[in-house]
Amino acid sequence: MKKGLQLACIFVLCFGNIMAQQLTSPDKKFVLVFALQGDGTPVYQLDYNGKQVVKPSKLGFVLKGDKQSLLNQFTVVDQKQSTFDESWNPVWGEVKTIRNHYNELAVTLSQKESNRKMLIRFRLFNDGLGFRYEFPQQKELAYFVIKEERTQFAMTGNHTAYWIPGDYDTQEYDFTTSKLSEIRELMKKSITDNLAQTSFSPTGVQTSLMMKSSDGIYINLHEAALINYSCMHLNLDDKNMVFESWLTPDAKGDKGYMQAPCTTPWRTVIVSSDARDILASKMIYNLNEPNKIKDPGWIKPVKYVGVWWEMITGKSSWSYTNEYPSVQLGVTDFTKAKPSGTHGATNANVKKYIDFAAKHGFDAVLVEGWNIGWEDWFGNSKDYVFDFVTPYPDFNVQELRDYAKAKGVRIIMHHETSGSVRNYERHLDTAYRFMKQNGYNAVKSGYVGPILPRGETHYSQWIVNHYQYAIEKAADYQIMVNAHEAVRPTGIARTYPNLIGNESARGTEYQAFGGSKANHVTLLPFTRLLGGPMDYTPGIFEMDLSKLNPANKSHVNSTLANQLALYVTMYSPLQMAADLPENYDRFPDAFQFIKDVAIDWDDSKYLEAEPGEYITVARKAKGKDEWYLGSVNGYSKRTSKISFDFLDKGTTYIATIYADAKDADFKSNPQAYVIRKVLVKNTSKLQQLCAPGGGYAISLMVAGKGATKGSKSL
Ligand code: NOJ
Ligand code: CA
Repeated sequence: MKKGLQLACIFVLCFGNIMAQQLTSPDKKFVLVFALQGDGTPVYQLDYNGKQVVKPSKLGFVLKGDKQSLLNQFTVVDQKQSTFDESWNPVWGEVKTIRNHYNELAVTLSQKESNRKMLIRFRLFNDGLGFRYEFPQQKELAYFVIKEERTQFAMTGNHTAYWIPGDYDTQEYDFTTSKLSEIRELMKKSITDNLAQTSFSPTGVQTSLMMKSSDGIYINLHEAALINYSCMHLNLDDKNMVFESWLTPDAKGDKGYMQAPCTTPWRTVIVSSDARDILASKMIYNLNEPNKIKDPGWIKPVKYVGVWWEMITGKSSWSYTNEYPSVQLGVTDFTKAKPSGTHGATNANVKKYIDFAAKHGFDAVLVEGWNIGWEDWFGNSKDYVFDFVTPYPDFNVQELRDYAKAKGVRIIMHHETSGSVRNYERHLDTAYRFMKQNGYNAVKSGYVGPILPRGETHYSQWIVNHYQYAIEKAADYQIMVNAHEAVRPTGIARTYPNLIGNESARGTEYQAFGGSKANHVTLLPFTRLLGGPMDYTPGIFEMDLSKLNPANKSHVNSTLANQLALYVTMYSPLQMAADLPENYDRFPDAFQFIKDVAIDWDDSKYLEAEPGEYITVARKAKGKDEWYLGSVNGYSKRTSKISFDFLDKGTTYIATIYADAKDADFKSNPQAYVIRKVLVKNTSKLQQLCAPGGGYAISLMVAGKGATKGSKSL
């Protein structure tokens, strides 16, 4: 009997199902079985290489004010299987071409008595499963409110999980590594160690959730195409190791307002016995709609510096005055307010950054704190709320626009909304028009603090719709968006590639707010980055922040070589060199890597990977025979062992290796690095020492004629 069929039979035997459908992935490694239990409850199960990875798990919804929810009493009225295979070229990305290849099972269900129809669409790829619910147009179910989604992911054991708490307002946590059974106990500590702002459940975690089973299977749970729906966290039944979807409620406690025809986002399960496959998976993107921006030629990867780290470290300030709130100033004309003397976004300082960007070949300069409103964070004053168009008196929009243009540099706009979302929406058209008039083509937006209107949080359906509105409207104006504190991405950048970045996780800023775990960057690519790029803002060369601001006692938990590697390991078409120009001037040889490294790629090869421990990746620059390699390391000193067999046969490359010195350590000796140049061919191999919290970066350029003379080979 064929494996799939055998499985379906076991499934039927175990659950007394009447009808079971099974689907295999194109490479036959995955088998999905869908069935209805005796009472008409929809259930699915996923197998990988002949072993269960998701045990029989229920599907359905509890509806608000409804006697008969969408949980059971279903019959199968139709089922269709199909195959899809296409390749597409992303506007920017880790690879030139992405293959979207899956087998699909679409099951149409009808509920007894209510006659309501619900379709469940499963797509089985070679890297895992995506499925979603669809509600066709029908008179039996036109408008409805979701009280609870009841999608289960039943795990096969007490896996190791790399998790952050299921907060409705922030993803900016360090990861905790623990067994599933330990989450309940560790949750409280994680919450108090971090900046939790809203309610949480004792076993609730966020996605993308990375896990590893005791027999070495890597499993990732997330979602794709989060559109017009609330963000999904997961609640764990830690007796049975069953996760259940936990949607973010709105201010009234409702979880989704639906109008058929409509669909939910995709629920995703990426699985492999090789951790590198999880990093290379493009399944989340593939489950999103193709690019909707017709002529995306204006969307360009950006390497930038910014008037930013100096504010984050407390060396300078966003606001022009010291007064808070601005109403207390007693003046209506801002130019009459007394400046604090620490304002960062002054004409002179911005020019300094523009000069630095021009000198070193950066595309842009981010300027934060340029506009009025910072003194009055929560919009209590009528006079000085953020309107996104009024500069402080010492920031001259036209003068800086012309100065930057003359130097071939763009200024990146900054819109801190202070969570006042309706205020932002009211000003959005004017703000985007102002940008176009003044030569800005990219905006960093931000949503710090509790969301206004009060009671809403950062991840409910209403605000998910707001983030999407801001992206789509920006596309109308040909503006690129980098949204901080917005909901974590779910592959939407495939459809709207003007979304070139998000924060939505713990970024470098936390190194200035007390520090992050030294292995944090070995986890982000397994979790947060699966849905889209992160504006992580790497490139810190001075780890002792009291040197920038004596009051800041934070230490950046990373070696300098690790900071260089991040430009390759943390894939993003938007990369910042976040430190101050004067710190780069101290280490010009190491800074060269940041200047050289590409930000758009034709190919990516994951060479080594283990969550929490290490990641090594090599990438080929877009349209060039140049490779860059990055390796980041966790807490244990280790030797990375790689082969250069991904290089073209017969070509010799000059490899510049930027590595931790022997005695480097993220805490005690972070700036100890060594740089060496060697010749490399596709037969070459490298053994490279990585310090705790360290790593290495390599640039590989084709060796020109004569360049090989006298050079050492690896
Ligand atoms: C938090 C963002 O993550 C950070 O990058 C920004 O500088 C501040 N908010 C101020 O908007
Ligand atoms: Ca942030």
